[in-house]
Amino acid sequence: MSEILYNADVRDFTTFGIPAKAAMVIYYDSEQELMSILADTTLPRPLKHLGQGSNILFTEDFPGTILISRIAGYEVTELSQGRVMVAASAGTVMDTLCRDLADRGVWGLENLSGIPGTVGASAVQNVGAYGVEAGNRIALVEAVDTVTLRRYTLTHDMMQFGYRHSAFKCDEMRDRYIILTVHFELTSIPSPQLDYANLRSIVGDNPSACDLRNAVIAIRDSKLPDPARVGSAGSFFKNPVISSEQFARIEASMPDCKVPRFIVGEDEVKIPAAWLIDKAGCKEMTEGGASLWPRQPLVIVNTDGTATGSDVTRLERRIIMAVDSRFGITLHPEVEHI
Ligand code: EPU
Repeated sequence: MSEILYNADVRDFTTFGIPAKAAMVIYYDSEQELMSILADTTLPRPLKHLGQGSNILFTEDFPGTILISRIAGYEVTELSQGRVMVAASAGTVMDTLCRDLADRGVWGLENLSGIPGTVGASAVQNVGAYGVEAGNRIALVEAVDTVTLRRYTLTHDMMQFGYRHSAFKCDEMRDRYIILTVHFELTSIPSPQLDYANLRSIVGDNPSACDLRNAVIAIRDSKLPDPARVGSAGSFFKNPVISSEQFARIEASMPDCKVPRFIVGEDEVKIPAAWLIDKAGCKEMTEGGASLWPRQPLVIVNTDGTATGSDVTRLERRIIMAVDSRFGITLHPEVEHI
């Protein structure tokens, strides 16, 4: 049975711990319930679907209805030549799926271990870590149009996956479609992805999926705040992509420094926003209850639980200005602002 809350505190379903009110929140337990909710024209609008609320910042009260799926679970189908298809309901906690699949020796999602959020959100956001993006592993996405109530199946190509991007983030689709099921194409043939940072030196060349999962979790724990203790929404900014020419100028201006980079295209380089923030001298910046996590300054944290939405947006603006004036690069938030 769906559960309805009125004038709800968003801190109960987001990870940042920033106070705001939502006019209505509905938790639903079946697709049938979701369809009746969508057909109900009396609900406060707009509608906004959330997963675990781990990539969201409410900067003010929300006048509409927040929808949250409690449909969790997945089916595993083993095909020939080690191919494994996994159909997971959008409300499944992504890390539970990563854990269960690593336990049964199914490869493909272990590098995404420890990322907060649900399966549905992982497809919208194309979450990524340690050299793997969810979109690399997604074959199909089933979704419903909240306006026409029609169901669609999107193929991998239709999803337009990019860095923290999918078709569900384009203007025409954003907040109009709700993901029901995500189909991952995985494998039972050992295929560890070890190229990112020092993963190989930690687990060696032939780890089990569980070894790799545990190593990823250990690295994350050493750098990122524990969501149970310190509020945040993970990486606050995207890593900017700049031209090789602009990168060369930055390198030349910092002869004593090895400037970190990832090559992304023929003439493009991704540069860690954490490094830019650090070198622009922002690490110690605070605004009210908001500050930067010392070991990973890409993460804005709710230092002692007292931060407000405007503390965070003030700090965000100061960081963007400082990085822009030091490097001529404009940072863009990864976290969605409501
Ligand atoms: N760095 C500094 N100063 C510091 C800390 C770090 O210069 O004080 C530098 C490091 O030397 C390193 C870089 O910043 O070069 C940090 O790189 P890291 O591999 O830790 O990750 P990232 O590029 O900052 C991205 C994702 C993370 C993901 C990691 C690991 C984005 C926006 N973030 O961060 O995703 O876990 O890679 O793959 O792409 C998230 O999206 O919420 C998230 C945590």
